Amino acid sequence: MSDTITIRRPDDWHVHLRDGPMLARVARHTARQFARAIVMPNLVPPVTTVEQAGAYRERIHAAAGPGFAPLMTAYLTDRTSPEELSRGQEEGVWIAAKLYPAGATTNSESGVTDIVNIRPCLERMQQIGMVLCVHGEVTEPDVDVFDREAVFIERILEPMVRDFPALKVVLEHITTRQAADFVASAPANVAATITPQHLHLNRNALFAGGLRPHAYCLPVVKREEHRLAVRKAAVSGSPKYFLGTDSAPHAREAKESACGCAGIFNAPFALESYAAVFEEESALDLLEGFASHHGADFYGLPRNEGTVTLQRTEVVVPAEIDGLVPFHACESLSWRLAG
Ligand code: DOR
Ligand code: ZN
Repeated sequence: MSDTITIRRPDDWHVHLRDGPMLARVARHTARQFARAIVMPNLVPPVTTVEQAGAYRERIHAAAGPGFAPLMTAYLTDRTSPEELSRGQEEGVWIAAKLYPAGATTNSESGVTDIVNIRPCLERMQQIGMVLCVHGEVTEPDVDVFDREAVFIERILEPMVRDFPALKVVLEHITTRQAADFVASAPANVAATITPQHLHLNRNALFAGGLRPHAYCLPVVKREEHRLAVRKAAVSGSPKYFLGTDSAPHAREAKESACGCAGIFNAPFALESYAAVFEEESALDLLEGFASHHGADFYGLPRNEGTVTLQRTEVVVPAEIDGLVPFHACESLSWRLAG
């Protein structure tokens, strides 16, 4: 068995880099692992204008240093104008727009309250080939939190894909068999990102020996049956599934709290975490497609030049990195990204 894996430089198609002091702490971890990343716009206030996104991109450049390209997204609200989306795309600022159902997750209060409100935007995006990134969960309080993704697919996503058949849609951070099946049977303009945590954890992990705030993210991890379905999709070799870490750092106090924030900080060992899964599934030869080809191809961007190498070496993930608790804290992983 080989002791190194060399793949084309990968990208992260879904990450939260935050702003201010948190951005300064986390940006270099993503930049070390990835050439490009799609940066989520759920700041306070949300990134809704081309000017805000351009300025945020500059702050990311300053924090991450050279050699890393942040790709910016527009935060859709009930009032987003199609013109703002077109303008940002023409100016080379937006790569995609993000649909947060209002109240679905962190800083989604300004999100979309009814999908009808963004129909003109979806129409325009379909026309100009702009990707829609979707947080796929309904927010109705009578829907069980573990069912919110499956219900979203049924009530919102299926009709949307039918009504906008040429719209490019990425269902983000899929967590269920229903999501994996929906994407598999949808046309080629519908894809999904998959996080490391949804490949490693099932919902038992939330309660293993006590309440585990660092395993809490949204969409929440699901039953084992669903984890296995998402794993199967990730290692299927299908170009519809690609890497999106959803690394979402929160201060330790905000996680370890009576009302802890959702989000897992997985950036420092992201590739290593995915490699562990692909190895367990005897699919290391498919890691490169998932990490470095499928996303770029879907977004219509060139694949990166250059390569990265993972070396087989046991590494224990620190309990804390820059004051944050990383995914896999205190666990041992068997690959490490060289350099
Ligand atoms: O766990 C999550 N954290 N899921 C999201 O959708 C948002 C993210 C965050 O921004 O903290
Ligand atoms: Zn996210």
